[in-house]
Amino acid sequence: MHTSAHDTIRAIEWRDDTLYLLDQRILPHSKQRLSYTDPVKVAEAIKDMVVRGAPAIGITAAYGVVLAAMRRYDEAREEWRGRIEKDFAHLAASRPTAVNLFWALERMGRVMRELGPGNPAKALLTEAQAIHAEDIAANQRMGELGAALIEGGKAVLTHCNTGSLATGGYGTALGVIRSAFAAGKVPSVYADETRPWLQGARLTAWELVQDKIPVTLLADGAGAQLMKQGRVSWLIVGSDRIAANGDVANKIGTYHAAIAAKYHGVKVMVVAPTSTVDMSLSGGELIPIEQRAPEEVFGLGANRVAAEGAEAWNPAFDVTPAELIDAIVTEKGVVLNPTTEKMAAMMAG
Ligand code: MRU
Repeated sequence: MHTSAHDTIRAIEWRDDTLYLLDQRILPHSKQRLSYTDPVKVAEAIKDMVVRGAPAIGITAAYGVVLAAMRRYDEAREEWRGRIEKDFAHLAASRPTAVNLFWALERMGRVMRELGPGNPAKALLTEAQAIHAEDIAANQRMGELGAALIEGGKAVLTHCNTGSLATGGYGTALGVIRSAFAAGKVPSVYADETRPWLQGARLTAWELVQDKIPVTLLADGAGAQLMKQGRVSWLIVGSDRIAANGDVANKIGTYHAAIAAKYHGVKVMVVAPTSTVDMSLSGGELIPIEQRAPEEVFGLGANRVAAEGAEAWNPAFDVTPAELIDAIVTEKGVVLNPTTEKMAAMMAG
């Protein structure tokens, strides 16, 4: 159900022992790839939002570990292991909410532990490339599963950017939208602009325009009115961390949109690979929520617009309770009206 015509963008590339990231801070007006050979700089790139989106953060961190091995390994001196440990710690400290980061670091750490003596870089690169390829495959599978839930005809609403830019490729929520568009089930997309980073206005709109899927932007607060007018059948979003009971952390504003959806009879679909599910947390209240700098709310990009003297509250994510969610779509299957029992059965499947 997915077609390459509706998926042409890649945010992360590995070539010639170098990691390349498309700088998402300056898209869509400048298209610039930055190159990385230093894991500390990779951690900074994640923190500074050069790359963002939960799966993309995990994949980037995995390549960061490869760079760490390439830089630190020293046959003659055993302390290289301690130096790689520090790189792991830097990468882990970059952003707190997207559990894909810790999931990917855990996978890379396991490869290191299971290897004997010798340079681990080659085995780590194989693992990072597997994480990257598995993410694209998971997205394409979720695209099929999610699109199958949609009855044809109406537009859908999405929030933040969950597309090729936020993942290895194809996207989570945007992957479902790509598949549903290719199947003729969704004619067009409404995208929240997503303050304060404007991932919707800058990134989702850019991806959809590139891939020839009609997109209409709206201010974040306009979603309820859109739903009241019956213009959308589904709210389709991604996630940064899903707790064991199906509570979902996602970009700030998702909770707000899900409440409006429930009130207006619009269905809510959350699309995320199982690398986003954190079965160690019983509920969403335990998910660490990143608090970002007030300056992001004071301005539009580098331009200050807020009154001097005001303060700002800037949580980057919120938690939508499971009771507001109609379907969680993972590559392992669909969980309707999620509960702890249903989530555990899906994860075991
Ligand atoms: O702060 P960001 O841009 O990293 O936040 C991204 C989101 O909230 C996405 O919705 C989420 O990571 C899912 S992306 C496939």
